[in-house]
Amino acid sequence: MVDVVLGAFYGDEGKGKIIDYLSGNCKYAVRFSGGNNAGHTIEVDGKKFAFHLIPSGILNKNVKAILGNGVVIDPKVLIEEIDNLKENGYKVDNLYISDKAHLILPYHIELDKMLEDIREDKKIGTTKRGIGPAYSDKFERSGIRMEDFISDKFADYLKTNIKNKNIILSAYGYNTIDFDEVYNEYKKYAEILKPYICDTTTMLHQAILNKEKILCEGAQATLLDIDFGSYPYVTSSNPTIGGVSTGTGIGAKYINDVYGVIKAYSSRVGEGPYVTELKGEVGDKIRELGHEYGTTTKRPRRCGWLDTVALKYAVMVNGLTHLAINHLDTIGKLDKIKLCVAYEYDGRKEEYFHTNLDFLNNCKPIYEEFPGDFGDISNCKKYEDLPSNAKKYIERIEELTNTKVKFIGTGPARDDIIVR
Ligand code: GDP
Ligand code: IMO
Ligand code: MG
Repeated sequence: MVDVVLGAFYGDEGKGKIIDYLSGNCKYAVRFSGGNNAGHTIEVDGKKFAFHLIPSGILNKNVKAILGNGVVIDPKVLIEEIDNLKENGYKVDNLYISDKAHLILPYHIELDKMLEDIREDKKIGTTKRGIGPAYSDKFERSGIRMEDFISDKFADYLKTNIKNKNIILSAYGYNTIDFDEVYNEYKKYAEILKPYICDTTTMLHQAILNKEKILCEGAQATLLDIDFGSYPYVTSSNPTIGGVSTGTGIGAKYINDVYGVIKAYSSRVGEGPYVTELKGEVGDKIRELGHEYGTTTKRPRRCGWLDTVALKYAVMVNGLTHLAINHLDTIGKLDKIKLCVAYEYDGRKEEYFHTNLDFLNNCKPIYEEFPGDFGDISNCKKYEDLPSNAKKYIERIEELTNTKVKFIGTGPARDDIIVR
């Protein structure tokens, strides 16, 4: 009953597009982790939608969209997103927010900036959306949940937190937060969001009993996972498969297909190791051809070749059942394509990905080379329509990862997809 879409590299693999496709025959689309650090772009009828919080599945009108308990929510951003959808003619009364999801408040955003500054030359390059500090509060047990937000406890909880956070902020010379100002603004947001907040865990359980199809929609990606990613250059949640259960309340036994999304090349935003990064001309060319600029922060994305050592790791830690490869059109514009098939570390060949920073910073990629120049593949609607060079590349990825490629992206629009 439950399928899952996950990022298999460092994010921005085009998860939104695959989710949009798969949610077409689902009753529920569920975000289970992260917050508005995510940016999922979908193009429908020439119109671009960028989702940060609301599950992208909401574009399919029969879908009930859920923000699970594992998500951290900036209410201001969420309300903007709701308004934007309404302005574009979408009904948003099919949105449900978990009563157990945590709030992102202005002090989280201020602390995120402060923490980045004091990291000096060890910056993570966060999105500065308050994600890390909001999850810290959740685990330290001073976070404010959506059920508290809409109750009369909110003022008291907020006052205590602001008092404590201001001690830290002022000690480092950062702007302190004014309780009255925040309270007056945020109690209005609470009123707006109140109708959407409910027990989504029970709701999803009921859906499972009714045999209704659920799609869990990953944000971020495997190598940004707090446990399995390139720590500390990661986000503060579990975007890997375990996050589905802890972030929704869906038992692991209900999970069926797990799709790992990648691009035919790779990208990363923010700091941290990146074995197949291309720092010169070819990397710049991929960035321009693929329009690789952040959906959320507009930062230029670092670009490189596809890394099957990292991809095998994503298959392993998530139990991926299928792969989805986007941007085959983009990579096909190059005359030569390289695919990383192993690493060289300390004079020996290494076939496994390890998250140790010394390892990742000192690995050299071992490449196989493929002919590019695929020509215009925008009219290819079936796998058989693709040029043989493109098929060779795809099939080698399948062979190396021992995982079937089910979806192939041939352009940014909703219909630019080959389903096998
Ligand atoms: P997400 O965060 O994983 O959902 O990915 P983003 O939306 O941040 O970045 C993916 C970008 O690639 C978006 O601008 C998409 O419109 C675009 N995109 C997705 N699939 C394809 C594809 O197959 N070809 C091309 N050219 N663009 C694509
Ligand atoms: P989607 O869902 C790419 C990166 C940030 C930074 C690190 C930590 O669009 O794939 P954070 O603000 O989470 O504390 O930042 O994680 N990051 C992403 N990179 N795509 C994303 O989401 C990301 N979400 C966070 O750039 O390096
Ligand atoms: Mg993105």
